[in-house]
Amino acid sequence: MKVLVTGVTGYIGSHTAVELLAEGHDLIGIDDFSTSSPKVKHDIERVAGRPFTLLDLDLRNRCEVECLLASGEFDAIIHFAGRKFVGESVAEPMQYYERNLAASVSLAAAAQRHEISHVVFSSSCTVYGQPTQLPVTEETPIAPVSPYGRTKAMTETVLQDLCDATPSASVLALRYFNPIGAHPSALLGEVPSGPPNNLLPYIMQVAKRVRPFLNIYGGDYDTHDGTCIRDYIHVVDLARAHVLALDRAAETTGFEALNLGTGIGSSVLDVLEACEKATGRAIPHQIVDRRPGDAASMFADPSRAQQLLGWKAEANLPEMCLDHWNFERNLDVDALSA
Ligand code: WQD
Repeated sequence: MKVLVTGVTGYIGSHTAVELLAEGHDLIGIDDFSTSSPKVKHDIERVAGRPFTLLDLDLRNRCEVECLLASGEFDAIIHFAGRKFVGESVAEPMQYYERNLAASVSLAAAAQRHEISHVVFSSSCTVYGQPTQLPVTEETPIAPVSPYGRTKAMTETVLQDLCDATPSASVLALRYFNPIGAHPSALLGEVPSGPPNNLLPYIMQVAKRVRPFLNIYGGDYDTHDGTCIRDYIHVVDLARAHVLALDRAAETTGFEALNLGTGIGSSVLDVLEACEKATGRAIPHQIVDRRPGDAASMFADPSRAQQLLGWKAEANLPEMCLDHWNFERNLDVDALSA
């Protein structure tokens, strides 16, 4: 299929582009490079062994979006573009409503006008907020507690209404849990723009001695070791799910939401221990106050994705941490040789 991928040079977008190209799809990627670099195109093509078209385009520019979709004859859209940090969304909610919600509405309306019937949407487990029942299923109440989570939940509602009004339309909203790791080639991975918000990039910068120690936000949660539990999933497993979701979107109609997780919960200290083993280095850390908004425990029931897509996450936590570390080390080598 001819697929439009928004946010294609981002963390999940770039890994999904590799899998799409490997499957033989033709790709037009767009990005505004606000949190990634155009150089990632070269890495995607090097890993995939095939070229694709990359356009510098801001989805908030409705005219540019309209021209692209009018000229593109796309079969499908995979929509990644957006901001993804819970804490940042509390501080800058209007940036999140503009970039995540308004831009998605504009894209969906243009897709309907140009009869692009299949959409895979990058959603998030943050739509569930702080669930009381675990594991989290797709029936767990939608109750976001941050502007970021609300933009994802609202965009899902917009896409649901689009499907209700457009008989030929199909949308799969993929609710990611905690993506970590990097491509085994060590050529693609997460490159934080600024101090890392998320756990793994921060740990890796401590391992590289870029930062002195890790602050662990809370050690008194009701978990096996007092630290928060999350469902960490390898970014390549996540990318594979998008290719399968695209195939399903092409064969079905209507709106479906799927949890993408491993079904396994790991605490912050579990992850820290796995990273010390993967890097062969001690990770200095201290337990500090809880971070507002953090749920004590969050992990998925991924059975519906397995039933509908025939997909299951394969990588375990040690493999995720090792791939993440290998990419981080490669980053320095690239920087030195650049
Ligand atoms: C994980 C755990 C922190 C940093 C993320 C994304 C969100 C969504 C889900 C996709 C928490 C603790 C962290 C640090 C720490 N993904 N932590 N010290 O908050 O679960 O949400 O995944 O949509 O977009 O934000 O991930 O990596 O920030 O935190 O102790 O320096 O690690 O308290 O318990 P989170 P995270």
